Amino acid sequence: MIYCFISGQKLQPFQTVNLSETVGPLFSLFRDEEHYSDSSPDRCRTCAVVGNSANLIRSHYGAIIDNHNFVFRMNHAPTKGYERDVGEKTTHRAIYPESAVDLENSTHLVLLPFKVLDLQWLISVFTTKNITRTYRAVKPTIKANKDKVMIINPEFMRYVYESWLKKQGKYPSTGFIMLMLALHICDQVNVFGFGASANGRWYHYFDHSHHQSVHAGVHRGGVEYDVILKLEQQQKIRMYRGW
Ligand code: C5P
Repeated sequence: MIYCFISGQKLQPFQTVNLSETVGPLFSLFRDEEHYSDSSPDRCRTCAVVGNSANLIRSHYGAIIDNHNFVFRMNHAPTKGYERDVGEKTTHRAIYPESAVDLENSTHLVLLPFKVLDLQWLISVFTTKNITRTYRAVKPTIKANKDKVMIINPEFMRYVYESWLKKQGKYPSTGFIMLMLALHICDQVNVFGFGASANGRWYHYFDHSHHQSVHAGVHRGGVEYDVILKLEQQQKIRMYRGW
């Protein structure tokens, strides 16, 4: 059984009829090449996982972030105007329909499919452009390189939810899923822009109107952060917390 998450609810099985109808076109439309599953003692793939926390403001981390082989960013997080603190390189951007933005030609679009409609939306983006709504209005198309599309397997999202978060919260945050992906495909993982502000709210570096409490939202921000701290203690990752 293939599982995925449906917005606002708990972990749900994908509807298999819709899924099999959708997966065929997906595989014919997008290349199935880059899995980053190679490994060798000589390989040192450095990755910066850049969350959207306001702790990036005045951090001056831009140059350090840009110095990584892979730079993962999430959702609509901008770089323009914030280069000094967040850098300008984006090798991979994790999105879902509701958070999509235009991408540069060299950036990988990494889709996190939370529901079957997200897969259908991705097909539509590059073909008919006729999906304009999910649970809210979404962009019918975005600028993105079709040959650089990557789709996270919903099974990987379930694994992160069950094995790393012990099913706490409704589903893992985008940033947490990308951090887990980085741990699997990178040799060195440096983490930027994660963590709530001192008042316990999830502010963005680019938008001070976002102030969802980490403990009250669909993501158990506190639980995720505890896992991240443990990974840091065990020297699996390095955290850059701002100043
Ligand atoms: O809010 P958004 O999901 O777009 O942010 C991207 C990711 O950055 C989140 O999924 C979360 O993992 C991380 N984040 C954080 N602390 C914040 C804001 C975001 O850890 N204050």
